[in-house]
Amino acid sequence: MSTILVTGGAGYIGSHAVLALKNAGYEVIVLDNLSNGHRELVEDVLQIKLIVGDMSDRALLDNIFSTHSIEAVMHFAAYIAVGESVTDPAKYYQNNVAGTLTLLEAMLAASVKKFIFSSTCALYGVPKFVPLTEEHPQDPISPYATSKWMVERILSDFDTAYNLKSVRFRYFNAAGADPNGLLGEDHEPETHLIPLVLLAALGKRESIFIFGTDYPTPDGTCIRDYIHVTDLAQAHILGLEYLLKGGESEVFNLGNGSGFSVREVIETAQEVTGKEIKIEERDRRPGDPPILVGSSDKATKVLGWHPQYPNVKEILTHAWQWHQRRHR
Ligand SMILES: NC(=O)c1ccc[n+]([C@@H]2O[C@H](COP(=O)([O-])OP(=O)(O)OC[C@H]3O[C@@H](n4cnc5c(N)ncnc54)[C@H](O)[C@@H]3O)[C@@H](O)[C@H]2O)c1
Repeated sequence: MSTILVTGGAGYIGSHAVLALKNAGYEVIVLDNLSNGHRELVEDVLQIKLIVGDMSDRALLDNIFSTHSIEAVMHFAAYIAVGESVTDPAKYYQNNVAGTLTLLEAMLAASVKKFIFSSTCALYGVPKFVPLTEEHPQDPISPYATSKWMVERILSDFDTAYNLKSVRFRYFNAAGADPNGLLGEDHEPETHLIPLVLLAALGKRESIFIFGTDYPTPDGTCIRDYIHVTDLAQAHILGLEYLLKGGESEVFNLGNGSGFSVREVIETAQEVTGKEIKIEERDRRPGDPPILVGSSDKATKVLGWHPQYPNVKEILTHAWQWHQRRHR
């Protein structure tokens, strides 16, 4: 069975992908510098080999590729905080772009030419139409999104020049947790709506802010497309199989195809947790589009991907199970 190198496998989405790979029978090695990851998730929960190190360490990468028979790389490692990328863009371009370039060069030196990349719907910028398809014009508005856009361009050039085949997945809002409660979302600082709402339900936060209540949406709050992390992980298995069978480089949106407003998420969270969640209404944040919903028809057609948990209540239920255990 092939060995798959997973960078960022100690993080939120990467750890769920490692679980899916393990369940599908792949040998897995995780490379993570633990800047935002959790050692115990990989070593104790998943019981997978963890190499603690940085993707920009070329000597370490050469050593990994020469001592293991790596068939493909799933690349989750990145910094992910959009706001921080605006105040410290150098940190984001250095890690997300330069680090990825080092990883790709090490892969080429070892003749490993299959790559799965975590990209983002944020590279579309402010939507000109919804649902967003892969053909929507690209106009990233944060250094974080631009860093992902740059890597996508690099991957396209590397295919032309070096025959490196990649699947680029543009995720919408990853959410939820492993339905069996093994894994979940645990970022520090946390910036995503669902874990913030659940932390408020647990009493770890005073309240939850709603930024903008006058958007042109039915309840005035922003609408987003939440995709269950286990469904994302499953898409990675399908993307890997596609590349292993000799598939050409491709880009796919991964979303639910339906959106939920901030108020709907909070109301559903109150139902799921049985707790009152205090809301504070604030002004709109610059750069937040009213509606971000994607079409994943291409992933369905080409990869046969069908999200198993499209319902936001189920997403919140799984996330709540995890949060209760994590903060016991
Ligand atoms: N969470 C979302 O909704 C979302 C949406 C779109 C795209 N993405 C992308 O998906 C990927 C995973 O996101 P996540 O939410 O799981 O983030 P995360 O922070 O939980 O995971 C990223 C992991 O990468 C590791 N890492 C960072 N820089 C590294 C380096 N230089 N060398 C080795 N390891 C490094 C971190 O320690 C962490 O464990 C990221 O590339 C992110 O940009 C996430």
